[in-house]
Amino acid sequence: MKLNLQTNNQSFVLFDVAMAILAVLGLALVGLGWWLGGAWQWLAYLMVFCLAILAYGIWIAPKRLKVTHLREALSKSPQAWLKAVYIADLHAGSNKSEAWYKKLCSMIKEIDPELLLVGGDFSVCDTSYLDRLQGLSKLDMRHGKYFVLGNHDYLDDPQIVKEQLSAWGFESLTNETKMISFQGLELQLAGLDETLYGVPKISKRIPEKPLLALAHEPDALLDLSEGQADLVLCGHTHGGQIRFPLIGCLVVPSKLGRRVDMGRKVINGIPTFITRGLGEVLCRARLLCPPEIVVLELGI
Ligand SMILES: [Fe+2]
Repeated sequence: MKLNLQTNNQSFVLFDVAMAILAVLGLALVGLGWWLGGAWQWLAYLMVFCLAILAYGIWIAPKRLKVTHLREALSKSPQAWLKAVYIADLHAGSNKSEAWYKKLCSMIKEIDPELLLVGGDFSVCDTSYLDRLQGLSKLDMRHGKYFVLGNHDYLDDPQIVKEQLSAWGFESLTNETKMISFQGLELQLAGLDETLYGVPKISKRIPEKPLLALAHEPDALLDLSEGQADLVLCGHTHGGQIRFPLIGCLVVPSKLGRRVDMGRKVINGIPTFITRGLGEVLCRARLLCPPEIVVLELGI
């Protein structure tokens, strides 16, 4: 049987089978440790600890939404601060219920931003779960809702994703630049196309006005140079999804490697923020890497 691991539900099934085998083996070792007694009991304690971490990573950690704040001046002397929310990698699929995405939307509503930016990967090779994100349609922003597509949206059906988002009041920013007027000031919003399936570029820029760019992958920064954007928002990496104390994550899907795992970085002289995202791919687990809502205060 040939498995297509781009289908998240299949990879989740494989993950669940692997975890079930590990759990059985772990419980067997717990029993063996207790039965042998003496120093072997430490083996039982170790296995109980490992199984508890596993259960936490699968059932609790992916649901724990965290809010990160970032205050970034896009101009040398900002005259006003615009509150925006940035999210990415929603990956609507079998791992998260519609209720969880409703909770995400109610948290965004409570933050009360004036602008909502979404950095792609709405689906994960199955658009039938997109309706779980319909709470996004009820979020009204004074300065609009914008998105770029991610690699999974391209793999699935970019047209369906685009049409759905448009119906929910979002505007596509893919290789486009839009101007926002805020308290008499102007902010350029640019979106870059996906690096694996598109040709990312900043379509136009007025040099004297601040520019905020949205890109799905940090690799989009490889084609940008200092001064082309004042801040770039990325996703895609999920922060590695599974992180370990002191070490961090083991792998990041980027040519730039683990240095673009998550958080604020400077790449090619451009301030960049990489979110841990909201959903999961391949394995339905997270560890030390909670789903993230980014609240931005943008100095214009
Ligand atoms: Fe992605």
